[in-house]
Amino acid sequence: MKRVAIYPGSFDPLTNGHRNVIERGVKVFGAVVVAVAHNTSKKTLFTLEERVEILNEIFGGREEVKVDYFEGLLVDYVKKMGTNIVLRGMRTVSDFEYELQMALANKSLSQELETVFMVTDSEFSHISSSVIREVVSLGGSAEKMVPDIVEKKLREKLLKR
Ligand code: PNS
Repeated sequence: MKRVAIYPGSFDPLTNGHRNVIERGVKVFGAVVVAVAHNTSKKTLFTLEERVEILNEIFGGREEVKVDYFEGLLVDYVKKMGTNIVLRGMRTVSDFEYELQMALANKSLSQELETVFMVTDSEFSHISSSVIREVVSLGGSAEKMVPDIVEKKLREKLLKR
């Protein structure tokens, strides 16, 4: 089995915290697939296509970071990709319960799957996509929390209505 790690998430939008995990994941695994979840029951600010496009603008041209999307069960996608490693970031203890539940659910669906947690660097531990959406929608700056392209797309989406 390859040691490529799948980094799944909503990425609505990608934050500097996500980016931190991706870059460090590359150092550990050699290659990371950033897999955008297409969850039809979850309402997102950015469409699947927009989220994938933003990620491609940021990581396009990087051989060790592939951008992709998936629909349905994560375990099926991971198998399809020929690996068994799922990478997830852990910011604070409040992430733990949700992450534990997800890791155990995935493990019960696929015994060979391994979820590897990476503690997000402390400077990013307060950053979440939902906080960022709120800050920008209320006219604040998310400059230090997201890549420039994400800030631009957020402003277009939330302020130019
Ligand atoms: O960024 P998020 O919203 O915390 O990511 C959650 C995500 C997309 C990784 C998770 O909801 C997921 O894996 N969805 C796919 C459906 C699935 O496999 N569900 C069973 C395990 S919880």
